Amino acid sequence: MTGHLRLGVNIDHVATIRNARGGEHPDPVKAALIAADAGADGITAHLREDRRHIRDEDIAALMEQLHIPLNLEMAATDEMLGIALRHKPHAACIVPEKREERTTEGGLDAAGQHNRLSDFVGQLKNANIRVSLFIEPDARQVEAAIHLGAPVVEFHTGHYAHAEGEERTTELKRIADAAALAVKNGIEPHAGHGLTFDNVVPVAAIPQLAELNIGHFLIGEAIFCGLEGSIMRMRELMDEAR
Ligand code: PXP
Repeated sequence: MTGHLRLGVNIDHVATIRNARGGEHPDPVKAALIAADAGADGITAHLREDRRHIRDEDIAALMEQLHIPLNLEMAATDEMLGIALRHKPHAACIVPEKREERTTEGGLDAAGQHNRLSDFVGQLKNANIRVSLFIEPDARQVEAAIHLGAPVVEFHTGHYAHAEGEERTTELKRIADAAALAVKNGIEPHAGHGLTFDNVVPVAAIPQLAELNIGHFLIGEAIFCGLEGSIMRMRELMDEAR
């Protein structure tokens, strides 16, 4: 899998800023529409149990107004399953969720939760929702995704993003090896978390990766160069890496 690397723009933190003051501004749906015009291939939004950023009504509005695919990130709970089945987004990325965490701190333990996830994945697939499992770049987790019949995995790049020197090289190799294993088994690999202008290129250069999902950095950088500018620069760096 080489060629165009899709960019999924995560708009959660537009909602974080909105929610800091209440009200409707800034509107994450407006951000999603600007992101689409700036070159995003998809929009990602994480509906958390505590609704700390994206809310139910944002998902409804995104489903109505977006003309590019929506990737709904969600925990494997009955509540979220009901919401996904009601809205039928293009994709659902199953993530682990802890109330006390500031962001998604690690990958899903697909290997340890096979029985619980199996029915969950099956119901989403039956509704024609493209299921993705957010996992560590680790052979054991990829094997679990194969057993669960997930068509997509997204590798958590957080360790890579925070590592330096030799450790970063090791983390990059873990992602590349896991991506190769996924493709060999018919699974489409994506990646995301903690990606920035400074660290995206080596990840984007991994030929098997089909999509990167990037949020916090792009929304933060938009303060300095506008949302369109920050997305276009990320797009350029990803294209140059291919
Ligand atoms: N992919 C998944 C599954 C995530 O949970 C997140 C964070 O919400 C991201 C990508 C984007 O991470 P970041 O905001 O650090 O770019």
